[in-house]
Amino acid sequence: MSTVTASASREHRVTVRSLAQRKQRAEPFSMLTAYDFTFARIFDEAGIDLLLVGDSLGNVVQGHETTLPVTLDEVIYHTRLVARGIRRSMLIADMPFGSYQVGSEDAVRSAIRFVKEAGAHGVKLEGGVSVAESIERIVAAQVPVMGHVGLTPQSVNQMGGFRVQGRDESGRSQVIEDARAVQEAGAFAVVLEGIPADLGQEITGLLEIPTIGIGAGPGCDGQVLVMHDLLGLSDWTPSFVKQYANLGGLAAQAARSFAEDVANRKFPDDAHSYR
Ligand code: KIV
Repeated sequence: MSTVTASASREHRVTVRSLAQRKQRAEPFSMLTAYDFTFARIFDEAGIDLLLVGDSLGNVVQGHETTLPVTLDEVIYHTRLVARGIRRSMLIADMPFGSYQVGSEDAVRSAIRFVKEAGAHGVKLEGGVSVAESIERIVAAQVPVMGHVGLTPQSVNQMGGFRVQGRDESGRSQVIEDARAVQEAGAFAVVLEGIPADLGQEITGLLEIPTIGIGAGPGCDGQVLVMHDLLGLSDWTPSFVKQYANLGGLAAQAARSFAEDVANRKFPDDAHSYR
């Protein structure tokens, strides 16, 4: 691809800059998780602005109860698959538990791997005040960072379960302080997860960077969902999720029909056989 063609195809790519403009113009944007080439292509073509290779892959792809077992190499692998399916969406890779907690040097090293080895346009990491130094160092290494505050699933053991955060005064102040710390450290956006809707709206008003809500009410600048929840592929979904399709039901029905046809020697028929 020539330099001219390459820059032309980048023109409509969602970027850190275009997202900041969307906030200024009060134009909401969308993010979905994706873990492979096929869904990345579908979501990119459908106009989803950001694709997140979430460490939720531990739950929905690998079948773990938490995201804690997911490794850096595993997220890098899935990020590579997604990168091949996108043209316009911005690609964010989630830094898994253990890839940034040891120290900021480790965090920078992990973040660089996502860009160099997988084609990510930025990384996301969980936490506020406690990870501010790492965010600063990653941004200084020219890797855009998305923060993630409120309910942070990697802290499940510390939180004593997956609980809505910021319900009382001290909890609210903590989430606000974390969101501010993430912005101060240089993040270009922040995910607000599992907080009351009015707190999501308040933080969105306080911050200059875009907020992206998941179970954080309609007042955020953008919204994110886990693709399996959106498409009805999960066996359980939290109450904040709106299921837009029932692919799980369709897939089960298709598989049952196939099994029946095979059992009754209806498949393959003449039309589906080589002559
Ligand atoms: O891992 C993930 O899918 C996430 C989203 C829920 C924001 O972090």
